[in-house]
Amino acid sequence: PMRRLTVPAIAARKGGEPIVMLTAYTARTAQLLDPHCDMLLVGDSLGQVIYGLPSTLSVTLDMMCAHGAAVVRGSYHSVVVIDMPFGSYEASPQQAFASAARIMAETGAAAVKLEGGAAMAPTIAFLAQRGIPVMAHIGLTPQAVNVLGGYGARGRSDAEHAKILGDARAVADAGAFALVVEGVVEPLAVAITEGVSCPVIGIGASAKCDGQVLVTEDMLGMFERTPRFVKKFDDMAGRISAAVAHYAADVRGRSFPGPDQLYQPKP
Ligand code: KIV
Ligand code: NA
Repeated sequence: PMRRLTVPAIAARKGGEPIVMLTAYTARTAQLLDPHCDMLLVGDSLGQVIYGLPSTLSVTLDMMCAHGAAVVRGSYHSVVVIDMPFGSYEASPQQAFASAARIMAETGAAAVKLEGGAAMAPTIAFLAQRGIPVMAHIGLTPQAVNVLGGYGARGRSDAEHAKILGDARAVADAGAFALVVEGVVEPLAVAITEGVSCPVIGIGASAKCDGQVLVTEDMLGMFERTPRFVKKFDDMAGRISAAVAHYAADVRGRSFPGPDQLYQPKP
């Protein structure tokens, strides 16, 4: 079996073969994605996708640890990155270290991800200098939805463009091994990718980024409504509905279980 990729191996992919990343929240999904991916993200998007929450704001460290451990158990190739949930890292570098150390100890993951640009640079440096690889997440940062006022694309004005480019440089200089840039206008994503020395993973960003990430359930077509930046590579919602309708009809028509699914007494 292949040895698991490492954080330095990912960092060294800057400008090289694009980095493939998807979210995973469960062991079985991790098993299926792992051979095709370089990194698996246990995203706090699990709040909406798994738990039906209205935003990521009430996702807890307990949830991230439970799902993170499952994804590490279900994978052996990809670098597993675990989102730090809202409220677990913003207060101080010390708070962030305690939360990240718990995540790494309980899950076995190699890295954490946190949202925020220049304001989080001291925290990123604090963790990186103490053995915790950090992926930063800038641009559209969903945990800041109440400050941003929604989930619209960022970087349309010159001021916002300059601010987000500054965020990218700040987190890269602080020692982030990679950064996610989400929901920004394409020229800004290109400027960020060209302007920092760590790999830039895009989501709603640019094909010129050093890699791409999507929420797996989004790209599989599990949802009716998804952001513009999601390409649906399948229609799993439609296929699941059809399979369940078939099952319901078989149960109601007493054609399931059939002979192949039944146990018979010894003759
Ligand atoms: O939580 C998540 O799934 C994410 C990705 C969309 C980058 O942060
Ligand atoms: Na996230």
